[in-house]
Amino acid sequence: MTIVNNDFKDVVFGRKSVKEFDPNYKISEEEMLSMLNDAMTAPSSVNFQPWRPVVVVSEEGKNKLRPLVSFNSRQNDTSSAMVVIFADMNPQSHGENIYSNAVEKEYMPKEVKEQILPSIIDMYDSMSKDNMRELVKVDSSLFAMQFMLVARSYGYETNAIGGFDYENIAESLGLDKDRYIPVVIIAVGKPAKESRDTYRLPAEEITKFI
Ligand SMILES: Cc1cc2nc3c(=O)[nH]c(=O)nc-3n(C[C@H](O)[C@H](O)[C@H](O)COP(=O)(O)O)c2cc1C
Repeated sequence: MTIVNNDFKDVVFGRKSVKEFDPNYKISEEEMLSMLNDAMTAPSSVNFQPWRPVVVVSEEGKNKLRPLVSFNSRQNDTSSAMVVIFADMNPQSHGENIYSNAVEKEYMPKEVKEQILPSIIDMYDSMSKDNMRELVKVDSSLFAMQFMLVARSYGYETNAIGGFDYENIAESLGLDKDRYIPVVIIAVGKPAKESRDTYRLPAEEITKFI
């Protein structure tokens, strides 16, 4: 799949939240996977990539989400997909896979992997739940932002959605709620309406140099 907009300024500064999409527009699974793979270039702590997207496209899936997204039902009903981004509370379980592949591809010397991976996994194994939650949410939020920009480069618009039922969404979508914590939903599709501009505080007002 191809990027249709490679204009950095337009992709980044032209992004605005879209709340209503063309309900008839379908994004193929292949194209969605291509966007997700592109977004996977996001950085993450020790490269553990804890984001776990659930892509809701079917009528059945949208029906499951509807009662959970309260005032955001228009995005649910009209978007091509609601990409629910969860974070894995046990990202170290993928450590061996990620680091072995890095060695195989010669991105990392074997000795480096053998030296650092066991101590990283120990550190993750002994982390408190609160710290782990914060860590995987930061990583997964960076993925979410990357995904929104990638989607624009493919010619789509998005809306980040935090207004949903955090308690029940994992189980409703068939995930283990103790392991997968919800971060944000990204509604994606072709816009049906112009979006409004939104005001930004000047950096001069909110930044401290020391
Ligand atoms: C974490 C997060 C949660 C948000 N939750 C919602 C939401 O539940 N419903 C909604 O309509 N917009 C939601 N938004 C969109 C914001 O209202 C929007 O990004 C902000 O007003 C700036 O506008 P812009 O995205 O057009 O630049 C959310 C944005 C973020 C980053």
